Amino acid sequence: MISKFLNCPNCLSSEYFEKLGNKDITCGNCKTTMPNLAGIQYISKNAEQLLFSIQSGFSLWANKKNAQINEINQAIKSSNSKIFSNRLKTLSKAIQFQTNKINKLLSEPLIITLKGHEIPVPDVSFDCDEYFANIHRDWSWNTEQCENQASINIIQKVVQKNTKIKNILVLGAGAGRLSYDIGLAFQPDNVILCDHNPLLLKIAHEMTHGENVELFEFPVSPKKPEDVVRLHKMKNSHYSKEIASKFSFICGDIFDKIFKQKYFDTILTPWLIDILPYHPSKIISRVNELLPIDGIWINFGPLGFQSESKINHYHQNEIIEMLEEGGFKVDRQLNETIPYLASPYSKQFRSEEVWSFTAKKIRNCKKPSHQNTLGEQRWLHETSEPVPVLQEFIEEAVKCKVYSQVLNQINGKRSLDEINDNFCKTFNLDQDSSLNTIKSYLGKILNLV
Ligand SMILES: C[S@@+](CC[C@H](N)C(=O)[O-])C[C@H]1O[C@@H](n2cnc3c(N)ncnc32)[C@H](O)[C@@H]1O
Repeated sequence: MISKFLNCPNCLSSEYFEKLGNKDITCGNCKTTMPNLAGIQYISKNAEQLLFSIQSGFSLWANKKNAQINEINQAIKSSNSKIFSNRLKTLSKAIQFQTNKINKLLSEPLIITLKGHEIPVPDVSFDCDEYFANIHRDWSWNTEQCENQASINIIQKVVQKNTKIKNILVLGAGAGRLSYDIGLAFQPDNVILCDHNPLLLKIAHEMTHGENVELFEFPVSPKKPEDVVRLHKMKNSHYSKEIASKFSFICGDIFDKIFKQKYFDTILTPWLIDILPYHPSKIISRVNELLPIDGIWINFGPLGFQSESKINHYHQNEIIEMLEEGGFKVDRQLNETIPYLASPYSKQFRSEEVWSFTAKKIRNCKKPSHQNTLGEQRWLHETSEPVPVLQEFIEEAVKCKVYSQVLNQINGKRSLDEINDNFCKTFNLDQDSSLNTIKSYLGKILNLV
């Protein structure tokens, strides 16, 4: 039962129950229900809001794709070149196909579930294009000595021989290939994949369960004319029903208190610690609170911190110091260069030196001191310092993006009904609930509600 390792993020109770004939789980204490749609367990303080934000993210993405198709079709009309318009025709058809496919995979089950529900505050933090190339890297490019094989080889080198993994949690699991290969190589009892990107997780689910999925790849720099778009019929050639039965798929935020503490003996963070918009001590303390003493953290990935400020571009020696402060003892480590997103259909690819380590939890840790430096908000006084990418700013930016759709339409001529009509088309929403959301938003600006 999926709930054996889950907490309710609202009341932190660990007692969930499932209703007969329904995979949704309900908290035994506060009675909040977490939906399970087509094999993916969605879990959040406000699960309805999570589903809604995914649906809005999909709708915005689909609108963007339709706009691209219109632009391409215009270019075809005004072109005199056959070779140019043939490429664009292929491109336009492939984008249309992809939009329909992703709609079927992801959006349709959400729409059915959300029908009739009141719409919470709009929020579109999900983009179907994010890390999309990882899907093809994981499941389409069956090249010899590819990144997937190189990755599992490294994990096997860095994990002590004869290590018995029982329950492994993969944080930021993406499209799931490395998790599957770990399932094959180490035969754990349970493999739990967590990611807040539902599309990647859905692909991970379908591939793990031996399903077929067809998706296009749009190579960055096509090698041959026929590589402009490439339809991949993805299937897991190592599918095993027994391995698949050990997997669970959780869509949620790794920092929400959604997992029982000390349930997992192993945590894997593949390509994660450098892309988080936080100080590394935050992920260190999160992994620490999840693992029991002697639990193992396996990290795999580069250190390519994205922060604009050089201050935050940590070297691995600094991370080791933070790990020691955070209650870990680094056991083994390895630096190895591997290809990155090396599509056989593109002229371009990167290589990355990945840093892998295993670290044992030796003690519980208090909240790390590094987090306080961000908490002080020095940049508010020292105005020449960079403003940190705080979660609050990210969330506000997303809300502004959605509400700007409403504000941009106010021109002194359009009525609330007309504005609502356009808003609903953009986000594929139910008219009545959305009208209330807009009314209350505009009312708040004028201090009327
Ligand atoms: C660089 S990708 C790596 C994906 C996968 N591990 C791989 O190696 O292909 C980082 C992943 O972390 C996920 N992620 C980032 N922040 C997250 C969060 N707060 N909660 C859940 N997932 C998160 C992203 O959606 C993405 O799938």
